[in-house]
Amino acid sequence: MKKSMLLVLAMVFVLACALPAAAKDYKVGVAIYQFDDNFMTLYRNELKSYFDELSAAGEDKYDVTIVDGKNDMAEQSNQIDNFITQGVDVIILNLVQTSSADAIIDKIVAAEIPCILINREPLGDNGDESYAGILDNAGVCYVGADARQSGTFQGEIVAELENHGDINGDGKISYIMIEGDPENIDAQYRTEFSVKALTDAGYEVECLDDQVGNWAQAKGQELCANALSKYGDAVEVVFCNNDAMALGAAAAIQAAGRKVGEDIYLLGVDALAECVEMVNNGEMTGTVLNDHVGQSHAAVDAAVAALNGEELQNYYWVDYVKVTAK
Ligand code: BGC
Repeated sequence: MKKSMLLVLAMVFVLACALPAAAKDYKVGVAIYQFDDNFMTLYRNELKSYFDELSAAGEDKYDVTIVDGKNDMAEQSNQIDNFITQGVDVIILNLVQTSSADAIIDKIVAAEIPCILINREPLGDNGDESYAGILDNAGVCYVGADARQSGTFQGEIVAELENHGDINGDGKISYIMIEGDPENIDAQYRTEFSVKALTDAGYEVECLDDQVGNWAQAKGQELCANALSKYGDAVEVVFCNNDAMALGAAAAIQAAGRKVGEDIYLLGVDALAECVEMVNNGEMTGTVLNDHVGQSHAAVDAAVAALNGEELQNYYWVDYVKVTAK
């Protein structure tokens, strides 16, 4: 090759290295288990606005499509097929059913699309990590909060009360539990660890009632109303696995003529704005911040890292925070 030719080639190479990488347009597919969920609504709105912020601030653009799984696994599976056909560059996935994680993730991995799992940790029934093998796939990770911590915080809030939740002084804390979707590890852990925090602290507990409210406000209200009419004053503490159900329970408590902080205690998780206000007004005893801002930003950051070809960790954790009256 001639010397002049070599020189031209070298100059082209140097110029190419000096130029900024070409801006990219990325297609992002977000599949939410159900739009009709107070917490996941905050979460998905924050996901979208953080992607928009990044698009506005940088060279790369993120075209985000968010779909509603309507709490139907077959529907969500179709939505994932569509994302794959459309050739999205990354998928953020809030599974309807974690027991279907294997099948769904297999499809996404086969299509070589990175996948960020959020909110519903893909654990087996016994917490035995039987689904966690899917996180061994490069390009698949889970972003969330350790639900054991939220349950522990609920129990600690009760333990820290002057009477430790034993309003009638009979030596035991009599509670009802209103659970989220029982397949969801958040529901299982919050149910277990709220009570464990009390027994670990040496308090005696009595479970009067434990029912499934499926994360829904109306169901929380119905279950709490039933329990209050059945057990009356014996109910000292109402544990709800989330704030939506606690909002329902608060309405039932008021309708039954009971008063939070005086003859009953009420706990939730999420720290929805209306519940934080109720905690400060004394209409709820406490809640636990489920940090949708921290989690959605961590999910977007992981998606962007995957798009840039970076290696993902298996897990990205965000802490819960205890919320009591200011
Ligand atoms: C939240 C619930 C929500 C559920 C959805 C939980 O982490 O606390 O409010 O309904 O996630 O999966």
